[in-house]
Amino acid sequence: MRLQGKTAIITGGARGLGESMAKLFADNGAKIITCDMGDPLYTYENVEFYKLDVTDSEACKKFSEYVIEKYKKIDILVNNAGITKDGMTRKMTDEMWNAVIAVNLNGVFNMTRTIGPHMEDTGGGSIINISSVVGEYGNIGQINYSATKAGVIGMAKTWAKEFARKGVQVRCNAIAPGYIMTDILKTVPQELLDKFAAATMLGRLGQPDEVARAALFLASDDASYITGSVLSVNGGMRL
Ligand SMILES: NC(=O)c1ccc[n+]([C@@H]2O[C@H](COP(=O)([O-])OP(=O)(O)OC[C@H]3O[C@@H](n4cnc5c(N)ncnc54)[C@H](O)[C@@H]3O)[C@@H](O)[C@H]2O)c1
Repeated sequence: MRLQGKTAIITGGARGLGESMAKLFADNGAKIITCDMGDPLYTYENVEFYKLDVTDSEACKKFSEYVIEKYKKIDILVNNAGITKDGMTRKMTDEMWNAVIAVNLNGVFNMTRTIGPHMEDTGGGSIINISSVVGEYGNIGQINYSATKAGVIGMAKTWAKEFARKGVQVRCNAIAPGYIMTDILKTVPQELLDKFAAATMLGRLGQPDEVARAALFLASDDASYITGSVLSVNGGMRL
């Protein structure tokens, strides 16, 4: 019960990594509010669902006001919602570029611009930005995605400084997962997935709970002296 008494927001929590984190955090004693554009395919004790498009800054503000009013103190924010729209740079349209920036970068800003200062005002918290191995090393055909995933690392480091500057214990870190078996990989051809698995030191792709357990660590007081860092959860992968 490493999150006993804590309240966590997890964006993009309807499925995939978000679902895995929501269940693990709840199993560890936290109250969870997941938000997503899509409906979750699960119900879980102590997990409340809120329909939200993180690209809508007004809606994010309203959502933040709602959770703060209801739960009084938000201890954990996981900026997890993310999408891909892959293509080579020469073929990437404005629509592909802007859609990925809107969710993966603007969405993280929209949520944290209210929840971060709330944590600062209430004396502490843990913010986790879900980045990617692609944000650390780049990847062919993912210029939009790699820009956003590198961006959320910069945001994590900036917020680690900004929200703690008055001496309060607000921590902000990033997790950079490798290739993890969720719906986001649906469009990736099997031969590429096999190549990615072979490029890891552990010789396999990851499972959602392997990222969730890393997030649990960073969210919990076990990581009380860790901030501004990037935790790579990729089986030892180099693209
Ligand atoms: N699975 C991987 O291999 C992998 C690797 C590295 C990083 N990531 C990152 O992990 C995060 C979770 O990905 P996943 O693998 O669980 O993918 P997923 O597609 O299974 O889940 C993403 C969730 O985000 C939600 N979402 C999308 N746009 C949204 C919006 N505008 N507002 C609210 N919710 C929105 C989707 O509805 C979905 O439920 C993403 O940020 C992704 O970039 C995943």
